[in-house]
Amino acid sequence: MNIYRCLVWPLVRHVESERAHRMTLDLLKTGLVLPPRQADDPVLATTLFGRRIPNPVGLAAGFDKNAEVPDAMLRLGFGFVEVGGVTPKSQPGNPRPRLFRLEEDHAVINRMGFNNEGLDVVAARLEQRRGRLGLVGVNLGANKDSEDRPGDYAISYARLAALCGFAVVNVSSPNTPGLRNLQGREELAALLTRLQPLHAQYRTPLLVKIAPDLAEDDIDAVAELALQYGLDGIVATNTTIARPDTLRSRHRGETGGLSGAPLRDRAEAVLKQLHGKIGNRMALIGVGGIASGEDAYARIRAGASAVQLYSAMVFEGPGLVGRIKSELAALLKRDGFRSIAEAVGKDS
Ligand SMILES: Cc1cc2nc3c(=O)[nH]c(=O)nc-3n(C[C@H](O)[C@H](O)[C@H](O)COP(=O)(O)O)c2cc1C
Repeated sequence: MNIYRCLVWPLVRHVESERAHRMTLDLLKTGLVLPPRQADDPVLATTLFGRRIPNPVGLAAGFDKNAEVPDAMLRLGFGFVEVGGVTPKSQPGNPRPRLFRLEEDHAVINRMGFNNEGLDVVAARLEQRRGRLGLVGVNLGANKDSEDRPGDYAISYARLAALCGFAVVNVSSPNTPGLRNLQGREELAALLTRLQPLHAQYRTPLLVKIAPDLAEDDIDAVAELALQYGLDGIVATNTTIARPDTLRSRHRGETGGLSGAPLRDRAEAVLKQLHGKIGNRMALIGVGGIASGEDAYARIRAGASAVQLYSAMVFEGPGLVGRIKSELAALLKRDGFRSIAEAVGKDS
């Protein structure tokens, strides 16, 4: 029996989405609900940015914006965790309500707008966990009122580089007006030029996260720039501003980024295109609509070195990670792969 779906979800679905999320974080912080850490099937072990991780299923950015529970999420079974998005200054984000569960569509719409406690608080929390095992990266954003957005990423990268396992330049959130323009060829080149000396100095893996709404040419441009500037990876994708006709929920008209099941095929297509250009020269992290071992396996075969998820966990609960891992291990073995690395890009 799926305890979450049968017992927890019937209660949680009546709680306002953001309140439910806050309650979840508070519960995780108590440590009371955490299972003993179980060893993963060895076939799932892999390497990301030269670091060994026990499995390739990561927690996507936005769940733990303020780095409150990265170790709890690792304990729940994620192979790595991305905290944030964090901006240099704390900011409240958009007015509530700003987070909507589209239950019938297995999707979420959010227009949080980088609500977070700011760089100092996140740095202090990461400082506290220094020396602990587990790959924890940070998602970097820019303040809404910033007059120098590239400068925001530079400040945060320089401050957090020694405290995190990787940093993701998020230029794809749809909820900060104008932010996604930084994905354009010239704007992105200027941003990466700014970050390059810091990347050379600190050497903490640097990635860029892109939107699923980019046109084919824009995706190629990102791939070329990522290679040219020696980035360590690309995270594909963020939420979409598209609204497929198939959506049924009453919330489908809300403004914001759509994630979950309706994003899956587009996110996979973007990943595949990136892999066609980049091959295995850098890590591609596949995210968007992953809800099963089959989804994770398809993304890996499309070229992802690792995957991440967020929305599916809202509907399926924390047990989802364990299910995805066992399904993924079974699929790898069925097809004769001895490791994740062997399967990466097999369909590309
Ligand atoms: C409530 C919420 C907040 C998010 N916040 C961020 C964020 O701060 N930075 C970011 O790069 N992505 C953020 N995302 C996007 C996710 O990291 C992920 O790219 C997207 O949801 C697609 O994955 P999924 O379908 O598994 O949810 C957020 C998503 C949700 C649902």
